[in-house]
Parts: sequence; C-alpha cells; structure tokens
Amino acid sequence: MPNISTDLDHALALLRAGELVGIPTETVYGLAADASRPEAVAKIFALKGRPSDHPVIVHIAGQAQLSQWARDIPDAAWKLAEAFWPGSLTLILHRAAQVSDAVTGGQDTVGIRAPAHPLTHALLERFGGGLAAPSANQFGHVSPTTAQHVASEFGARLGLILDGGPCQVGVESTIVGLTGERPTLLRPGGIAAEAIEAVLGMPLIHHQKPATAQMRVSGLLDSHYAPRTPLLVGPLLAIENEAYRRFEAGQSVALLHHSPLHGTVCGVDSHQMPLDAAGYARALYATLRQFDTGQRFAALLLETPPDGNDWLAVNDRVKRAASQWL
Ligand code: TXA
Ligand code: MG
Repeated sequence: MPNISTDLDHALALLRAGELVGIPTETVYGLAADASRPEAVAKIFALKGRPSDHPVIVHIAGQAQLSQWARDIPDAAWKLAEAFWPGSLTLILHRAAQVSDAVTGGQDTVGIRAPAHPLTHALLERFGGGLAAPSANQFGHVSPTTAQHVASEFGARLGLILDGGPCQVGVESTIVGLTGERPTLLRPGGIAAEAIEAVLGMPLIHHQKPATAQMRVSGLLDSHYAPRTPLLVGPLLAIENEAYRRFEAGQSVALLHHSPLHGTVCGVDSHQMPLDAAGYARALYATLRQFDTGQRFAALLLETPPDGNDWLAVNDRVKRAASQWL
C-alpha cells in the first residue's frame, strides 16, 4: 500500500525528485507532478492509463503565479480569480511559452486553478511552482474523494498520498474557457454558473459538443466517471420496477434514491441520497464506489437527480456515469 500521511516535507521531496504524489483538493483528489518537468508529467499518464494527448490542469497557489503559466490574460480571468480563488474554478487560458506539451496535450491553451484545500494550498505555497494534476483515478473510472479511494486505485504503484480527509465539494471544478470570443462553460462543477455570470456581468456560453468537437477534453467523453457495475438511471417508479424485476430473476441490485420509496422490495439494498445539491455532490462518487466495491451487485439503480441550476454538476456526472436510462 502507498504511504498515507500529512507529511508535507515528504511530499515536497518526492515532487522535487520528479515523482508523483496523491493530493487532496476540495473537489476531488488529484495525482500530482511538477508541471515544469515533462518527464514527471508523463508518469501521470502512465499511471492513470490516460491517453497522453489529454490536457491536465496546472494547480497553483494563487493569482500571483498566474502569469507564469498563461499569456494575454483577459480582465475576465483576473476578475474570476479574484472572486473564486482559491476554489473550485479552472480557467482555460492561452498558455505561456514555457508550458510543455505534456501539460497541454499539445494544445495552445492551458487549464489553471488554485485549489482551496488548506493542506494542498500549503504544499503549493512551499513548492512555489505549479502542479499538474488530473483526478487521481484510473482513466474513465469514478473520481476519488478520500485518500483511501486513491490508494484503492493505484496501490503500491503510488509512493505517497497526502491525506486531507473527505473532499468537501465532491465533484470536479467548474471549467470556464476564456480563449474564445465569449466566456464559455466547459464543465459544470463546484462553483455555480450563475455565480460566475454575476462576477463577469454577462451570461456564459454553454458548451455544445459539435461546436468544440475538435477539442480534446477527456472530461467530455461520455464514458467518463463510470463505476464498473452497470449504473441504470431513471425515475423512481421505473427503478423500483426494475429492482423488483431483477430481484425476481435472482439478481442482487442496489437502489439509490432521494425520494421516499413507494414500497420496499425485500432483498434489495436501498440507500437514501442527500436531498440538497451540495450534499448530493459531496456524496455521489463515494456512494458509487461503496456500491461498486467487490462487484456485489448486478446493477446499481439510481433515481434521476432533481433538475435545476444547483443540480447541473450532479446531473452532468450522473449522465456520464450512467450505462443505461430507464
Ligand atoms: O476539480 C478538478 O478540476 C480536479 C482536481 C484534481 O483539481 N481535476 C480534474 O482533472 O478534474 P481531470 O484531468 O480529471 O479533468 C480536467 C479537465 C479535463 O476535462 C481536461 O480535458 C480539461 O480539464 N482541460 C485541462 N486543460 C485543458 C485545456 N487546455 N483546454 C481544454 N480543457 C482542458
Ligand atoms: Mg478526471
């Protein structure tokens, strides 16, 4: 097993030696390497099994480091950084000349964010540079929200995981693209689109697949964030019927719901999801992992989460994790 600790000196020594470290952020855990060393960044892709033309986010301590990684930074970027950093917002900007292709996936843009988790913030302040870090999961798998999740993804192949406890946000950062004509929401996440629009004083363009299909953005692949057990999503009555049908057929299934059940299906594990969007987001990945572990179920049946702006990030991740709709 990897070392799980809060030892910043150990983490710094590994990062400075070009090694990988699992780091907590307020959104999800990251798999970090020194962003200025392409050979260190390459280790991230090797360990994750991720295609090397996918860009990774550069994590920095704060605004003061922004111009080391980006050029032609628009006012909108400074405004958003001022309002939301440290926090769950990633900005896509034109990359500075020194930023390597290993980080950007060969694109002319770079994703940058200053995470709010105190342990990683302290690490970044001492490190001084930038840490390239995607979510610390195998490519395509559910993102980790505890140090133990990271350990279960990589085992002894990862030397150290900094333990910052369970992630408070639980879904990845909101990604805003600032290299086009208008600010664009590329991925809903920890910070609400309306809060960003309020700071910008204009609406965000919502990402539409055909328009940016040429962008290689791995978070936009449909198969992302998926548990290994098939995840079936639908209205409560549909998943209850499906649970009953499968129980009759001798299968074991888990029912993940937020509304009160119409009845009990004996022999079916049911689990109450949180009723508020923030609580639901915080619990989503951990719950999927809990029911995925050990492949105990033939299927996980999830009630479609509520609609509405607060639920954008949750619905986005559920859509990508789902293998079938009922
Ligand atoms: O909350 C988060 O953002 C977490 C934590 C660890 O910071 N990180 C994360 O990283 O979710 P990852 O690699 O799993 O997803 C990053 C997303 C991907 O969809 C990636 O393609 C996109 O950011 N991205 C990174 N750089 C980009 C760029 N230059 N242009 C467009 N998209 C970019
Ligand atoms: Mg990811």
